[in-house]
Amino acid sequence: MIRIENLSKTFYDENNNNIEALKNVNLEINEGEIFGIIGLSGAGKSTLIRCINRLEEPTQGKIYIQGEDITVYDKENLRNLRKNIGMIFQHFNLFSQKTVYKNIAFPLELEGLSKDEIEKRVDTLLEYVGLEDKKYAYPSQLSGGQKQRVAIARALANNPKILLSDEGTSALDPKTTKSILDLLRRTRDEFGLTIVLITHQMEVIKDICDRVAIIENGEIIEINTVEELFKNPRTKTAHEFISRIKSDITEEIIEPNESSATIVRLGYTGENAKKPIVSRMVKNFDIEVNILSGDINRLIKTSVGHLILEIQGEDEEINKAINYLISNNVNVEVM
Ligand SMILES: Nc1ncnc2c1ncn2[C@@H]1O[C@H](COP(=O)(O)OP(=O)(O)O)[C@@H](O)[C@H]1O
Ligand SMILES: [Mg+2]
Repeated sequence: MIRIENLSKTFYDENNNNIEALKNVNLEINEGEIFGIIGLSGAGKSTLIRCINRLEEPTQGKIYIQGEDITVYDKENLRNLRKNIGMIFQHFNLFSQKTVYKNIAFPLELEGLSKDEIEKRVDTLLEYVGLEDKKYAYPSQLSGGQKQRVAIARALANNPKILLSDEGTSALDPKTTKSILDLLRRTRDEFGLTIVLITHQMEVIKDICDRVAIIENGEIIEINTVEELFKNPRTKTAHEFISRIKSDITEEIIEPNESSATIVRLGYTGENAKKPIVSRMVKNFDIEVNILSGDINRLIKTSVGHLILEIQGEDEEINKAINYLISNNVNVEVM
């Protein structure tokens, strides 16, 4: 269905230094497969998935979709290609000024469908994702999970053959993540869609993927079935991803109070582990923080560790707080 051959992508930073985001990537993804690509932040996941619909131009290599080389496509061919490829994102990318209805109708309006056809199609999609009652709501009135359902409905509007998910569940709590993954699985089963999803969460791979590729520093270092990966990981990185899941089990014992709260995992290393960054964050922003779990002894002894926080507040304040952490060199994962 999708064949990627010797794909490379080089960016240049402001000092004109090379950033080799992808190095000679080879992958084959089968029709109807849910294929996961996992890697740490900066590994090249987004660049890779964006090459598949040519939101990113490859520096080298070929990408074949249903046998056709899409790297030579002109504008007109690209337009048709993108109709056949839906995409969802971590932060949903909905139009905040448009209703749910208008968001989903948007790609259909671009296609020039009649008002009646659009309304019929949108209603079908709303029913499919279970949001009939939110037709005239605005994105700000929806939970994260509902927003992603709208984004999925919009991505499916033109009956695509392929769905790409760039960290589509990374901003959601574990329970909502499961419900979105269920919806994606149902979409594959009912429409025979091929789904390529990238994630940094092994839970997502475990729950939904048939096969997985591990990407590290722009290179695919392992391709495996998910079952084999758990039974017999071939690389050290695969081991590490799996052991992270196991250690998360104890963390799940503490249930967050507020299902709509944002859960973040903070990774501390070296200097920043000694600074009172979290207490400063609480003072600086209009948010409330609960500590769900943390490895604080180890943190004090070795200056490395982690903390899992539940943050409540307006999205905007939460985003500011997260940016504050990032600017203090804390590694932040929204869970
Ligand atoms: N437009 C860009 N310009 C320069 N560097 C970029 C650009 N996009 C991504 N990169 C770099 O390419 C590498 C891979 O990024 P990305 O694909 O976003 O990783 P991931 O999605 O795995 O976190 C990173 O080093 C990132 O900084
Ligand atoms: Mg990314």
